[in-house]
Amino acid sequence: MYSPLQLAIKYFNYWITASNGKGHGMHSPFVFEFIARVLNDKTVYPEYEKVEALRNQLLHDNTVLEIEDFGAGSGIDKKNKRSISSITKNAAKPKKFGQLIFRMVKHYQPATILELGTSLGITTSYLSLAKPDARVTTMEGSNEISKIAKQNFQDLELKNIELIEGNFDDTLLSVVRGLSAIDFSFIDGNHRQEPTERYFKELLAKTNNDSILVFDDIHWSSEMEAAWETIKKDATVTCSIDLFFIGIVFFRKEFKEKQDFVIRF
Ligand SMILES: C[S@@+](CC[C@H](N)C(=O)[O-])C[C@H]1O[C@@H](n2cnc3c(N)ncnc32)[C@H](O)[C@@H]1O
Repeated sequence: MYSPLQLAIKYFNYWITASNGKGHGMHSPFVFEFIARVLNDKTVYPEYEKVEALRNQLLHDNTVLEIEDFGAGSGIDKKNKRSISSITKNAAKPKKFGQLIFRMVKHYQPATILELGTSLGITTSYLSLAKPDARVTTMEGSNEISKIAKQNFQDLELKNIELIEGNFDDTLLSVVRGLSAIDFSFIDGNHRQEPTERYFKELLAKTNNDSILVFDDIHWSSEMEAAWETIKKDATVTCSIDLFFIGIVFFRKEFKEKQDFVIRF
């Protein structure tokens, strides 16, 4: 992964070169609408409070879990002890992005949603609340983390989530096979080049014209930047949006030519 200084420089470059979506060059009505209605929607939806109350509760929970380390490059037999508070602080997507993902699901209304990397279930809760009649499948390798996530779903009375335990490498193919389609996916685990590209290819089996894939931490390391380049260039992808901390890809045929946007958020 990049050092904090390297990341700060990258972020600065992103900020000064990214489009704010208002100026010249925004010729895509679809992307224009995405910016106006989703990215810049400042409505405070009541569901936000529910999920942020959960985050707050977890941030104050000092219970220690013994977790499998699926981190970049490490073997899964390695175990770590970490508090729920520290996992929440370091692994959960911050509120700004959790809420953007909520708005994307609310706006585009995907029927099937797949998340790779549940952690304690904060973003899963946003996914579930955004469309309570969607089928939400979320995947997590760590057994102890999964237990807490399931408890969190119960506490929030979220009834449309299925949590699949196990290493994505062993579970993803059969999960994809069992889904009728993948209308929306958030890929937020195993931030290395080869697995990220492989998971993308596996997801393609069930994507369609309206599918949306969101990749986390596309500028976190040179490996993730390389994976993001491969994904953007794939022949099936017709439009990509780089928001620095996440990358979004679309497959819509209405884009006659591939379009890659970098947008300030
Ligand atoms: C960054 S966290 C997910 C955060 C969550 N999406 C959120 O925003 O609240 C990534 C999770 O993916 C899990 N993970 C990473 N690599 C994995 C793998 N190969 N198989 C299964 N789980 C994995 C980790 O255990 C971790 O809990």
